Amino acid sequence: MASVRSDLAPDTLTVAAGRPPREHDAPVNAPIVLTTTYHETRAPEPGDRVYARGSNPTWDPFEEALGALEGSDLPALVFASGLGAAAAALSLVPTGGVVVLPRHAYAGSLGLAADLAAQGRFELCVVDIADTGAVLSELRALADRFDAGQVMLWLESPTNPMLEVAELSVLTDAAHAIGAVVVADNTFNTPIVHRPLDAGVDVVLHSVTKWLAGHSDVVLGALVTSDPTRRERLLAHRTLHGAIAGPFEVWLALRGLRTLALRMERSQGTALALAHRLAEHPAVRRVRYPGLPSDPGHERAAEQFEGFGGIVSIELDDVATADALVAAVRLWLPATSLGGVESLVERRRRQPAEPLTVPEALVRLSVGIENPGDLWADLDQALRRAAAGDAHLPHARAPREAGQLS
Ligand SMILES: Cc1ncc(COP(=O)(O)O)c(C=O)c1O
Repeated sequence: MASVRSDLAPDTLTVAAGRPPREHDAPVNAPIVLTTTYHETRAPEPGDRVYARGSNPTWDPFEEALGALEGSDLPALVFASGLGAAAAALSLVPTGGVVVLPRHAYAGSLGLAADLAAQGRFELCVVDIADTGAVLSELRALADRFDAGQVMLWLESPTNPMLEVAELSVLTDAAHAIGAVVVADNTFNTPIVHRPLDAGVDVVLHSVTKWLAGHSDVVLGALVTSDPTRRERLLAHRTLHGAIAGPFEVWLALRGLRTLALRMERSQGTALALAHRLAEHPAVRRVRYPGLPSDPGHERAAEQFEGFGGIVSIELDDVATADALVAAVRLWLPATSLGGVESLVERRRRQPAEPLTVPEALVRLSVGIENPGDLWADLDQALRRAAAGDAHLPHARAPREAGQLS
């Protein structure tokens, strides 16, 4: 790959990083390489490609671009999924250690950590990550029971789907003071909004499936660290456990990454506008969005982040109204996941794995890049019909067809 200047702005890096060398006749985009193995015309040396579970040239430009975007001198490591990346990150905790996790971390991360804890790999300590004082005292208590290097602090900020905001630097400093390793799931923010390595975090995790790839067509994950030894361990985990990414998926992810800054700008601009309107809507009981000055995470988010992200969670009166809203949308897509160009709506507690402390009538909105007026008109009509109890009517229609809303 051609090297790219690390002082470039993130929106430039999304476009400029991970390009093949500037050579006459060379393509400007890296090709997809489909191979399981590599020619050996001499005994392989360290770094040589031997077998494609260990390395694929299609991964390189994506890993270089994401590493640069997160502010690391080292390339990222791409995995078959976000949870595959999470499994590799959790492998950094020695057996008999402890993982401190937000109670509202992504349900899959909680489930994976709980599964490993049930197998006796480590203890699990679930905390309210927005309550800095409580997390600090938990870390102090753990320092009495565990040696340095046995503790992992897992950050997710904002949390999915409660959108709680943690004090990343404060918690990271405290964790380091007791010898803990700190992992931050940066899926919601993306490096356009926040770079956890700059706050001292050791390993950044992404579900690339979401905003980075951005088109709801690939499942991938990634880890980024600035520590070469830690990267070697994570790479060894990937190669040995075999959760590797397909080259086509990674090629698509890099293609998606090229427009990340534009997509984030649009999504979070619309999310902020919708959050303000939703806060005034008679059918909405509560809006959770760190961009709203009334949100408990607003000050922290404004201080730490370069934006407020593209996810808004709303709470309705009851489950029936929330389900009716999801049934009544015509433009928004009723589906799980987030971070794609299309706007998605989901009542999270319909998923059995979701923590019971997430309100049952909470609906998560993943704001895409459609026209903001169309998105609002559809949401408004769906909210009104849901609140009026007529969303179940088979012939009930949106006031105007999607696409013609203003
Ligand atoms: C915040 C967060 N982290 C990690 C994951 C897991 O990623 P994947 O679905 O790519 O395995 C998700 C998936 O929804 C997520 O929302």
